[in-house]
Amino acid sequence: MTISQIGRTIGASVTLKLNETAAILRAKGDPVIHLGGGEPKGRAPIDAILGAAALLSSGEVRYTPADGIPALKKAIIRYTEEFYGRSPAPENVMASGGAKQAIMVCLQAILNPQEEVIFPAPYWVSYPDMVRLVGGVPVPVTPEDGGFIPRLQDIEQVLSPYTRAVIINSPNNPSGAVYPESFIAEMVELCERRGLYLIMDDIYHRLIFDGRQPVSCYAHAKDHTESSKLVVINGVSKQYAMTGFRIGWAVANRRLIEVMTNIQGHQTSGPSALLQHAAVGAINGIQSSVSNLRMTLENNRNVLVDRLRSFAGVKIEEPGGTFYSFPDFSAYSKNSVKLAELLLEKVQVVTVPGAEFGREGHLRISFCGSIKDITEGIARMKWVLDPDAPNELYIGDRKLVRDWS
Ligand SMILES: Cc1ncc(COP(=O)(O)O)c(C=O)c1O
Repeated sequence: MTISQIGRTIGASVTLKLNETAAILRAKGDPVIHLGGGEPKGRAPIDAILGAAALLSSGEVRYTPADGIPALKKAIIRYTEEFYGRSPAPENVMASGGAKQAIMVCLQAILNPQEEVIFPAPYWVSYPDMVRLVGGVPVPVTPEDGGFIPRLQDIEQVLSPYTRAVIINSPNNPSGAVYPESFIAEMVELCERRGLYLIMDDIYHRLIFDGRQPVSCYAHAKDHTESSKLVVINGVSKQYAMTGFRIGWAVANRRLIEVMTNIQGHQTSGPSALLQHAAVGAINGIQSSVSNLRMTLENNRNVLVDRLRSFAGVKIEEPGGTFYSFPDFSAYSKNSVKLAELLLEKVQVVTVPGAEFGREGHLRISFCGSIKDITEGIARMKWVLDPDAPNELYIGDRKLVRDWS
């Protein structure tokens, strides 16, 4: 079979594969604890359900404009005013099938083959493959101090004549790190000065803890004209627990949005009409579900960090947002894939290997599940890794006996 060059370079989405493995094990009756998840467990807001139900019960569910229904664009404009202090025109907004599609279409619109896209490591698993899908070259950059917070120098060092864009994701998946506002300001300034696109992947911007407030990149921009190369990506998936609804969006200059809309129009047409109406409901509706989610996640984070800190050898930086932590397990194993496999095989705990995010020795551990899953999952992990742990562990009425050292 002949497969294209690009097709051959693209790997399966590891996180989606892990979800499948966990589901298969669960279906077999295994007591799986999924600490690898990427979605809040709560129900979608009632306003989202009502929005979709109203359209569904009309029985008239049709194609929509390729850039989204006017009501959704209006809701996104209002959202941008509220959280970014900026009022885009409808022509500056495109709704997509998730933030993922918005980023993908943006890359298709701006990249020529071999052009480079820089992003700090650890990074969201999909960025490298998304860039490769367009024939571009991903340029991950690890902060010189080996931490989670990139600095201007780190980015400057990898700039080349082929650099076309920088992607910044803060709060960050997988580290949970919230980048300092000064760094965001420096990125805006650098990209304006060098004529680069700056793609702000803000999908977690409201899921921040310890009294932090979402940061607006526009506050640091000098160029507020239609030449601005600032692209803001967001969506309903994480903040409203609506991952399966698949609605995200991009806000950018008119010409870029026009090109992105043309591309999306040929790819998928507009996103599902039903789900756009649900997104309108979520964005315009009562926002208490977001603050409740944030409080639950902050509490989960505290429990997780507390448990991990009792784990000799594990280094954990407290996540300032998202629902991910990214502890360093290199004292136990430098090979994160093998470590994740060991944990799944021995105690049915799902984690995501750090290698997938460009950082070996770490595991991504999510805290979007229940406190029970977090505490029991960490206890099981500890049993596997701690050489001083008792020889046996009971999971329900299953007795596990240590057969490794
Ligand atoms: C950093 C980041 N960006 C974008 C997305 C995609 O979000 P959506 O569900 O809206 O496609 C995710 C989902 O995991 C993510 O973690």
